[in-house]
Amino acid sequence: MSVQFKEEVLKEYEKIKTYYPNTQATLLPALWLAQREFGYISEEVMEYIAELVGVPFPKVYEVVEFYTMYHKKKPGKYHLQLCQTLSCFLAGAEELRTYIEEKLNLKPGETSPDGLFSFQLVECLGSCHTAPVVQINDDYYENLDVQKFDQIIQELRSKQ
Ligand code: FES
Repeated sequence: MSVQFKEEVLKEYEKIKTYYPNTQATLLPALWLAQREFGYISEEVMEYIAELVGVPFPKVYEVVEFYTMYHKKKPGKYHLQLCQTLSCFLAGAEELRTYIEEKLNLKPGETSPDGLFSFQLVECLGSCHTAPVVQINDDYYENLDVQKFDQIIQELRSKQ
């Protein structure tokens, strides 16, 4: 198997194991480590994690498929996660979606050809009181409207 954790990451994983009742229960943090290390969870990575954690490959696949926080393909440098759940929907998420689809020319699940942006629709990000919300990489952008969002996108572009 060509994919495997470096020595120091394996040590980190060994420590994580001490927090859980059994190895199988470490599947989510193991996938999180894998995504941090490899950038996304390819099928090869899923096979490695299945072996490491001791669960069947279909179980790993199912978990990666279910949680939007795991990427099955390489995300853009800026990964845009637009909440589409009720509070955000009512507060203007649809306009943000239209902006992303028309101005950035990205449909959900796509990455821009220059690799700068990728776009994903997600369920509640847990910040309904500041709707609408977009998560960009690890940061939340809240109380958005199209104008504010456009400014954020311009700032990200100007960092290139
Ligand atoms: S509905 Fe969007 S953060 Fe909860």
